[in-house]
Amino acid sequence: MRVGILGGGQLARMLALAGYPLGLDFTVLEPAQDACAGPLTQHLRAEYTDAEALQALAGEADCITYEFENVPAESVTRLDRQVHVYPPPHALAAARDRFLEKTLFNQLEIETAPFADVQDLDSLRAAVEQVGLPAVLKTRTLGYDGKGQAVIREEGELEKAWESIGAVPAILEGFVEFEREVSLVSVRSREGEVAFYPLARNHHSEGILRRSLSLDGDPAQQLAEQYAQRMLERLDYVGVLAIEFFQIGHHLLANEMAPRVHNSGHWTIEGAVTSQFENHLRAILGLPLGDTSSTGHAAMVNLIGELPDTRELLRLPGAHLHLYGKAPRAGRKIGHVTLVEEDRRILQVKLQRLEELVHGRGGESRS
Ligand SMILES: Nc1ncnc2c1ncn2[C@@H]1O[C@H](COP(=O)(O)OP(=O)(O)O)[C@@H](O)[C@H]1O
Ligand SMILES: [Mg+2]
Repeated sequence: MRVGILGGGQLARMLALAGYPLGLDFTVLEPAQDACAGPLTQHLRAEYTDAEALQALAGEADCITYEFENVPAESVTRLDRQVHVYPPPHALAAARDRFLEKTLFNQLEIETAPFADVQDLDSLRAAVEQVGLPAVLKTRTLGYDGKGQAVIREEGELEKAWESIGAVPAILEGFVEFEREVSLVSVRSREGEVAFYPLARNHHSEGILRRSLSLDGDPAQQLAEQYAQRMLERLDYVGVLAIEFFQIGHHLLANEMAPRVHNSGHWTIEGAVTSQFENHLRAILGLPLGDTSSTGHAAMVNLIGELPDTRELLRLPGAHLHLYGKAPRAGRKIGHVTLVEEDRRILQVKLQRLEELVHGRGGESRS
């Protein structure tokens, strides 16, 4: 069976790595010549709107998925007429627009920060009245890794914030003084079978995920699963869905969802019985889902911007190094390292060493 993937970055690469043992083949549609999934897959090098390339992809793939939310909706709809596209296009439409996404969360009685639609400076002023300050202005679409966002602390900063995000349709949301950020990776099969991974606790800095820790038996797990279950059912979802939450006390405020495999689930490659990548493939191909239990306490640290001394990383017992084959560039995710330990204290000690190696002695990038 051949899986088509829109996008040829590291998520496509890890999907392919998970799929080969199952006997799957992959074609990626991706405009960049040096796409990091390219060497592992059949690479259709064309724009996502290229009619001929879409036709070729639909012709050879038994099932199509995507690795990022910003694939043009028309391309997905067009493919969906010829071959199964999972997660379903309406889920993509809901998740790619922050206003629709948060509206849907609230319809399902899933808490969020207060938010308001922003179309211009006047509506931004009205939104500030409604939401209060401090607040975060975010573009409705196309944002990732903290891009397309501006924190507003005072009324005087409105214009600057509006210009800085490019004066495009946006939402304003209340700034949340959260205690923790957690995310839930869930998966639903074509038959409606559902499974959840243990929550991950996430640490961001400058809007970019730096580190995720798996949380076994966390008290917030049950509520997060209830919320995810509602969303999976509402969307008649197929594939992996990740939901990011801000936690305050017993409350989980949904921040955003990703209709795809997610960075905060990379620990599942070594830390769970079945990885999120394999389970996404199983789900979209109509296969039984695999066990989502963790095999120990896991920590995942992203390699961002520059490559640390990989020989030193590999010297760390039990460190699993994943390099994506991407050229280092400031703010760019070029790999990650995962540790899995039975003993949480041993994990902490090794994680500290790992972060020293990744960020330098002081661990500046820690948040
Ligand atoms: N309303 C908010 N209050 C506090 N922190 C926020 C808020 N929105 C975003 N952040 C911080 O910025 C990070 C990235 O924002 P997010 O909305 O998840 O966008 P992206 O699509 O770039 O991941 C979040 O994980 C969180 O750490
Ligand atoms: Mg996010």
